[in-house]
Amino acid sequence: MTLRKYGIIGFPLSHSFSPKIHNQAFADLKISAHYEKIEIPPKQFNPKIETLKKESWSGFNVTVPYKTAIIPYLDKLDEAAKHIGAVNTIRVLDYGKWQGFNTDYKGFLKPIDAFKGALKTCLVLGAGGAARAVSIGIVSGLAAQELTIANRTLKKAEELTGRLLSNQTLKCYPCQIEAIPAGQFDLIVNTTSVGMGAREKQNILDVRPFAHSKTLVYDLIYNPSETQFLKTARQTGLKTLNGLPMLVYQAEEAFSIWTGKRFPDKLLSFFLNPLYHHPLS
Ligand SMILES: NC(=O)c1ccc[n+]([C@@H]2O[C@H](COP(=O)([O-])OP(=O)(O)OC[C@H]3O[C@@H](n4cnc5c(N)ncnc54)[C@H](OP(=O)(O)O)[C@@H]3O)[C@@H](O)[C@H]2O)c1
Repeated sequence: MTLRKYGIIGFPLSHSFSPKIHNQAFADLKISAHYEKIEIPPKQFNPKIETLKKESWSGFNVTVPYKTAIIPYLDKLDEAAKHIGAVNTIRVLDYGKWQGFNTDYKGFLKPIDAFKGALKTCLVLGAGGAARAVSIGIVSGLAAQELTIANRTLKKAEELTGRLLSNQTLKCYPCQIEAIPAGQFDLIVNTTSVGMGAREKQNILDVRPFAHSKTLVYDLIYNPSETQFLKTARQTGLKTLNGLPMLVYQAEEAFSIWTGKRFPDKLLSFFLNPLYHHPLS
């Protein structure tokens, strides 16, 4: 049986969980395939992608910092990826054509499915690639009425709210993080990278002035499993959720695009085990 090859394109990739998740799924489902890291330093991005296009791959994930840069190399783009302006999954079609998808917005929504009717007012911190997927998720998958997008760079928050304006049912407000208007939100999401790596001790926002007793506080970061942002919220008695379930569910969507199959339940429960993440508390 031919071994199908999949990989994740990004830089750096040392902390990526994706090979573990996908290789486990291939093994559990007895699919003859292997998933590997394809770490590409920025200066080598263009020639390396040209080389990958000539090789025999079946699919890729794409992560920071290439989710937008990869778009010119794609032959087809699905509607959600087009709307979000970022691609995190590629399916290699017959004759080597590459088709791009974005599964992040579905991965973001799945862990909060049970809360969706209650999340009317949302605050998104950040306006990068992940914030775009999260905002589209909020617009398309929650019955939200108001969305505030707060970013260090105001212009990027304004651009993102501009992209969302075609949705007439939702009011969108851009602002800087220091200028978030007073109010209490049902959902507060950190999509910035503050809280990981060199900024592990930093907190992007003390959520307490912006929360009520039922506010859900969601951080896309999963390593560390509990950021300062989540810790403050949890210690105040708020419901919190880290980014591991989103990572696992966006991976499941990608896997389904490649193979037509969902992850086995035992794999989902293994990676969503409280040992791996801080569960919805
Ligand atoms: N769990 C998952 O499945 C999942 C999926 C996707 C992403 N993520 C995580 O989401 C995070 C963002 O990813 P991304 O692709 O959106 O990155 P990105 O496009 O580079 O955006 C980074 C965002 O963080 C903000 N930021 C960076 N440093 C900051 C600082 N010192 N102070 C305030 N704001 C700062 C940026 O603000 P400026 O615009 O002002 O620069 C921007 O809004 C990463 O931690 C990534 O791992 C998780």
